[in-house]
Amino acid sequence: MPVDYNAISQIYDDVRRADVDLINRFAEEIPLDSSARVLDIGCGTGNYTDLLQRVTGAAVCGVEPSAGMIARAVQKNPALVLRQGDAAHIPFEAAAFSFVYMTDVIHHVPDLEAMFAEIGRVLRPEGKVCIVTQSHAQIAARPIARFFPGTVRVDQARYPDIPWIVAAAEARGFAALKTQTAGVGEPVDLGAAYLELVRKKGYSMLHLIAEDEYAAGVRLLEVRLADGPITLPAAGDTLVWLGLKPPAQARD
Ligand SMILES: C[S@@+](CC[C@H](N)C(=O)[O-])C[C@H]1O[C@@H](n2cnc3c(N)ncnc32)[C@H](O)[C@@H]1O
Repeated sequence: MPVDYNAISQIYDDVRRADVDLINRFAEEIPLDSSARVLDIGCGTGNYTDLLQRVTGAAVCGVEPSAGMIARAVQKNPALVLRQGDAAHIPFEAAAFSFVYMTDVIHHVPDLEAMFAEIGRVLRPEGKVCIVTQSHAQIAARPIARFFPGTVRVDQARYPDIPWIVAAAEARGFAALKTQTAGVGEPVDLGAAYLELVRKKGYSMLHLIAEDEYAAGVRLLEVRLADGPITLPAAGDTLVWLGLKPPAQARD
């Protein structure tokens, strides 16, 4: 069952927000000011695209395959340059960007090597890339796995684990610069808003488990939250930082 982001676009912004901590992590690694030219791949409704542009003043572009998602992004911030495309077909000129990132997208990309070849085309030689995703260990540690254990199998099957991402990037001329984690163990309060998110299937993996398992998880969550909110540790994200190898090295 494919995930229909045109349908999800109707509720995405009710349940998902950008986190300014991630923008700050980016800014610790690369200059992000009005001279930066940034690309957000799989920008969705533009939550990070918009926040990054407003916080840094950089020229921020986005590429996104879903017409429904990108229509929301267009309404958010007229300074953004948003085009329909995907990770392997980026409708921008060569060497256009000093920074390319994606948040919570790589598990939707069917061909990682084609994606990295295309990112290598649009990235400036000294530019950097950050892939924000979750490792297989983080998928198993998510709070949602306590209520919907089937999401672990589903997501470990569709998310490339971190070594696979690095190997695909290296095969297409990138060097791994560093891998960081963010937000691991931070307290996550699960309450009425979380229950609403789950009821609206605001996470794509809830569309991919069996309906009876989904219904059982919702009931379990309702029982656990009946006495008030609960707090669980966050699984956090993994940030994979990449840069282009110099041409001589890339030929090796
Ligand atoms: C979970 S949403 C994340 C959206 C946004 N990056 C964010 O963090 O809010 C995943 C997004 O990836 C997009 N997507 C799916 N397949 C893609 C592909 N092959 N290339 C680029 N984006 C893709 C979806 O349309 C969707 O907007």
